Amino acid sequence: MPTGPSGPAEDHRKSSGSVGEVSAAESAFLRACRCEPTARVPVWFMRQAGRALPEYRAARGSGSILEAVARPELATELTLQPVRRYGVDAAIVFSDIVVPVAAVGFGVEVVPGVGPVVARPFAGAADLARLRPLEPETDTGYVLETVRAVCRALGPLGVPLIGFAGAPFTVASYLIEGGPSRTFARTRALMAEDPVLWGRLLERLAEMALASLRSQVGAGAGAVQLFDSWVGALSVEEYERSVLPATRRVLEGLGDLGVPRIHFGVRTGHLLPLVAASGADVVGVDATVPLDEARRRVGPGHAVQGNLDPATCLEGWEAVEAEARDVLARGGGTGHIFNLGHGVLPETDPAILERLVSFVHGETEVTTAAETG
Ligand code: CP3
Repeated sequence: MPTGPSGPAEDHRKSSGSVGEVSAAESAFLRACRCEPTARVPVWFMRQAGRALPEYRAARGSGSILEAVARPELATELTLQPVRRYGVDAAIVFSDIVVPVAAVGFGVEVVPGVGPVVARPFAGAADLARLRPLEPETDTGYVLETVRAVCRALGPLGVPLIGFAGAPFTVASYLIEGGPSRTFARTRALMAEDPVLWGRLLERLAEMALASLRSQVGAGAGAVQLFDSWVGALSVEEYERSVLPATRRVLEGLGDLGVPRIHFGVRTGHLLPLVAASGADVVGVDATVPLDEARRRVGPGHAVQGNLDPATCLEGWEAVEAEARDVLARGGGTGHIFNLGHGVLPETDPAILERLVSFVHGETEVTTAAETG
């Protein structure tokens, strides 16, 4: 059933069984991130704000996404839209993984339908000077303004906000390739042929991601997600030697803040044991690895997030329901955050995602109630 602007938020409050204010810290999402029992399995969707939503297209207007991110009032509205529409258990700030590098003037555009494009790609040591340290309050103050405004709006509903950043490898791949890539040939060549320069580049990007994430938490984000979307293209050896140290620098650098740290990448099945050792509390899993198998690879003490195939959402409700049941069965309840295996596809019917949230909540509420008697 289609829901009006304020519907799902109220439903969320009612079915969480609380009266009045719900502490965001006690939300099902944050509890699941900490592997604590929850009243039901929490749900959110990667790329939940965006072109699948007519209200997004209406509010967004034309112009680059980077311009939209730089308008806190608009970015706040775009962040809240999926919470209203879908009744998800977490919001994710409307921004992009290239915002910090663009903000320090590296020269990055985001082209609709393509993704980030860099006019003068990173090619040598001289380009390090184009990546000065990020000063979040002055360089990306608009993101922090959005975070504060979203937290003000969502705090009373007990819905936490996820802050995010691009991981050093994935951001480096855009800077080096100059745009999206299938093979990451130049990136891997730099990694193999000039490990010292590669290390310095990743270190800078790690410091930027860390500064950005710390500032988002300072402004009120209750959890963070580090997107290493394309790292699955690497071998175990490449990942361990050339990427893991910088990723660890980011995730461990957040340790004192006490917020859950989610790590996500596509096709990272072979990397999961190492990802689990990166300092992540929650390991995001794409649709290529069943969650029970992912749990075996990740080991105890971590929550898992995922992993319904976003393409299934284009097949109609029956297919979605069947796969959602399977994901829930394999996810195993405690320490599972239901999500897609990657971002919402623009062609997705929002009604399917709305129904999916209700389904996951309904299915898992019954199970938990039965378990606890
Ligand atoms: O709801 C949300 O997910 C919050 C906002 C968000 C955006 N980008 C906004 C956006 C988030 C979390 C991201 C992360 C991001 N950006 C990732 C990691 C997630 C993933 O999909 O793996 C990556 C790799 C990027 C880089 C990027 N930016 C790509 C590949 C694209 C897609 C290009 C396209 O048009 O299809 C973008 C553009 C972008 N970022 C859009 C949005 C809503 C769409 C374009 C627009 O509306 O102008």
